[in-house]
Amino acid sequence: MSPSSSTRTIPATSQTPRHVAIIMDGNGRWATQRHLPRTAGHIRGVHAVRRVVEACGRRGVEYLTLFAFSSENWRRPAQEVSLLMRLFVRTLEREVDRLVAQGVRLRVVGDLGAFDDKLRGLIKSAEERTAGQSALTLTIAANYGGRWDVLQAMRALLTAHPELAAQPEQIDENALDPWLAMSYAPEPDLFIRTGGEQRISNFLIWQLAYTELYFTDRYWPDFRADDVDQAFAWYRGRERRFGRTSAQLASPT
Ligand code: FPP
Repeated sequence: MSPSSSTRTIPATSQTPRHVAIIMDGNGRWATQRHLPRTAGHIRGVHAVRRVVEACGRRGVEYLTLFAFSSENWRRPAQEVSLLMRLFVRTLEREVDRLVAQGVRLRVVGDLGAFDDKLRGLIKSAEERTAGQSALTLTIAANYGGRWDVLQAMRALLTAHPELAAQPEQIDENALDPWLAMSYAPEPDLFIRTGGEQRISNFLIWQLAYTELYFTDRYWPDFRADDVDQAFAWYRGRERRFGRTSAQLASPT
């Protein structure tokens, strides 16, 4: 069982979220507002990634998960998809030393089989080069979808334990958890979506069960350390009940 399953235990909580998951939305609109091509917004989005990784590291966040490319983003114009891939490659090539200097371990989750050999090789080497770091685990979700994750976990579980197909009642959360793409991390405490939309868009649908959801109109390229602080201040004001009542929280027995 994962150490902090929100449905089977009451996870420990703290003033600073241990795990922050972000949908970085609004790059296209940021660029369009400035009469720039949408891709300019993605390029500026990488600057925001740098700022937010640093801000989260300084504030003691242990896991930061960023949704860089969803399973559904392939539906975008080919030119935009291609720019996003190139940006991903370039960022991996350029940023690894900085990540190591900041004590950041990089992991990439998603259906990586859809990427070309060069990108897959860079991902593997960046993961290996940062594997010894432990201050902050930065996960990039790329060609990721929450439904994909649940399905691949179920398939992997049944491949490893074919006998379970004949005893489906034996399949519980404990059995599935280790096969999920982010089994190494606790569930997110705080979810942030920039860009004004209020939806989860097939992000970590299993893991967001009891996550606090924060939405801001700020476009991702404009997101700064101050905005991280505002989101964390909002988070500190939340009462995390995990199914219990307020009265129970006030006088735990
Ligand atoms: C959503 O904005 C953003 C994306 C689909 C891509 C996010 C990618 C980056 C921030 C850069 C690459 C990241 C890494 C980690 C290398 P949108 O295009 O949907 O914006 P819109 O809603 O305004 O159109």
